[in-house]
Amino acid sequence: MASIQQIQSPTLTAFAEDILQGLSGTPKKLSSKYFYDEQGDKLFQQIMRMPEYYLTDCELEIFESRKEGILQAIGQDHFQLLELGAGDGMKTKVLLRHFLERGVDFQYQPIDISSNVLMELEESLRTELPALKVKALPGDYFKVLHELRGHSGQPKVVLFLGANIGNYTLEQAQRFLRAVAAELNPGDLLLTGFDLKKDPGVILNAYNDPAGITAAFNLNLLRRINRELGATFKLQDFKHWETYNPITGETKSYLVSRKDQHVFIKALSRSFHFEAWEAIDVELSKKYSLSELESLAEQAGFAVQEHFFDQNKYFVDSLWRVE
Ligand code: AVI
Repeated sequence: MASIQQIQSPTLTAFAEDILQGLSGTPKKLSSKYFYDEQGDKLFQQIMRMPEYYLTDCELEIFESRKEGILQAIGQDHFQLLELGAGDGMKTKVLLRHFLERGVDFQYQPIDISSNVLMELEESLRTELPALKVKALPGDYFKVLHELRGHSGQPKVVLFLGANIGNYTLEQAQRFLRAVAAELNPGDLLLTGFDLKKDPGVILNAYNDPAGITAAFNLNLLRRINRELGATFKLQDFKHWETYNPITGETKSYLVSRKDQHVFIKALSRSFHFEAWEAIDVELSKKYSLSELESLAEQAGFAVQEHFFDQNKYFVDSLWRVE
């Protein structure tokens, strides 16, 4: 039976619950997964077009210059091609087009939590690559992978692109990759995009652009809390701050309170105190060394098959086989 407290306090959404947890802790911490509301998606699209944000161009260069090498390394002419967190598929289309031109028998199955994203992707694929067999799978990555287990008997190739793995801590990445391996069969493949350690100045610039687009992207999280949870954040009272640690490879984004202030959040019926220059930890974008990502593969139960680099060796798409 529900307790009186449960009856009196309306159930919070997962978003409200996470904001409550994150702003109640020390240090304050919010998850970057909440950056991506409609405005956040638009700002991220702008980031990907910025000259400083080299990651997208590097991965596109890899696919354009190494698409045949990637197909050769996959070494199969029929498979299921799954993509975790498909987005707009801009880079993936380079591979899809090439595989079709080479007569490979495959079905593309993008998996995303957002049905909207998948609908838009399916629509653009229908016009751009009409011969492609597509089956969009809305839902949680692991639920979908679990449901697909043993369905077709066909080998699986899973894509996890765009340095999304860098938004996890090393421990989270280990857990994530182990969980992916557990849903696959020996011989199945995983192609993951990793942003590599490089000149710290290049990395810091990518997350601290002079036009302030990254700052707007991060501050938009406060705007989202204002809109969805009825909060009173004044964006001008917070400052975007970026750091890069060349030892750990951790690029970290903070929103720093410019003054001593209280912010009320209606959905949580409470206010939060920020001391002057207190920071909220909002994003990790971890950069890897090759040896680090190779041991990550091994710990998660994969054997490294081949690395595909851009010409500057800024980025790698690394192909691993489930052992
Ligand atoms: C989505 N993710 C891989 C991006 C990154 O580079 O960590 C998000 C981002 N944050 C600031 N700029 C881009």
